[in-house]
Amino acid sequence: MYPVLNKFFGTSTKEVQKPLQVDTLGLNPERIPAHIAIIMDGNGRWAKAQGKVRTYGHQVGAQTLKTIVRFAGQIGVKAITAYAFSTENWKRPVTEVKFIMELLSYYLTAEIEELNANNVQMRFSGSREGLPPAILKKMDTAVAVTKNNTGVILNIAVNYGGQDEILHAVRAIASQVQAGTLKVEDITAAVFEDNLYTHGLPAPDLLIRPGGDQRISNFLLWQIAYAEIWTTDVYWPAFTPDLLVEAIKAYQSRERRFGGLVSK
Ligand code: IPE
Ligand code: IPE
Ligand code: MG
Repeated sequence: MYPVLNKFFGTSTKEVQKPLQVDTLGLNPERIPAHIAIIMDGNGRWAKAQGKVRTYGHQVGAQTLKTIVRFAGQIGVKAITAYAFSTENWKRPVTEVKFIMELLSYYLTAEIEELNANNVQMRFSGSREGLPPAILKKMDTAVAVTKNNTGVILNIAVNYGGQDEILHAVRAIASQVQAGTLKVEDITAAVFEDNLYTHGLPAPDLLIRPGGDQRISNFLLWQIAYAEIWTTDVYWPAFTPDLLVEAIKAYQSRERRFGGLVSK
């Protein structure tokens, strides 16, 4: 792992999951993206194409996330941030919103043991405001139970919006300034990042959007400044580990310059 990332992920070698030989997958083990962000889109359209109700797509999509997180951990990805519910998704019919909340609640009860056994560390990014207290409680328990795990970090973006996150950070910083605990000249990028919902995670290296749309939909606006973007028409419930490998291959074929020049 890049030494610079040790501050985020630690150096423990304890691993429950058996690592896969990534070179046999055609991947360069030296350039596995540490943090992958995924916009899990296309659940409803996938279900419709199967002649099913939209909610069935959410159910299958949740299974897909389980498969992808497990596989990502095995190939050495350190963290996945998965967009599950946006601050704008409240605009949807109440029945769909309720179903998504119940699905989340179900997973936080039914799957936590397995996630824990697989050494997955759970985190959440998003606003707590508006989320049902029972879900908040389960989210807090999931974080507490898995906090010492050293495998892949699964950060689920729930009630998350990039604009909301930036406003939330600005308000938190402004109140520190108002209270006299922070000087205006001390507001650095690092201070700002500490106040984002993703604090403690490095910026994503790779952003994946399935479902055929080429937009960001208010996801990680600050954090994706230099992320490599990969999209596919495949809907999220049909996303597979093979597609993740394809996305990482594309990532590995790109030259990241961060605004600078690459010496040849
Ligand atoms: C993504 O799938 C899941 C959520 C936004 C909750 P969609 O529900 O947006 O599915 P499509 O894009 O309508 O097919
Ligand atoms: C983005 O998908 C949000 C999630 C996947 C949770 P949307 O379906 O909400 O995005 P738009 O409306 O197509 O931009
Ligand atoms: Mg959608």
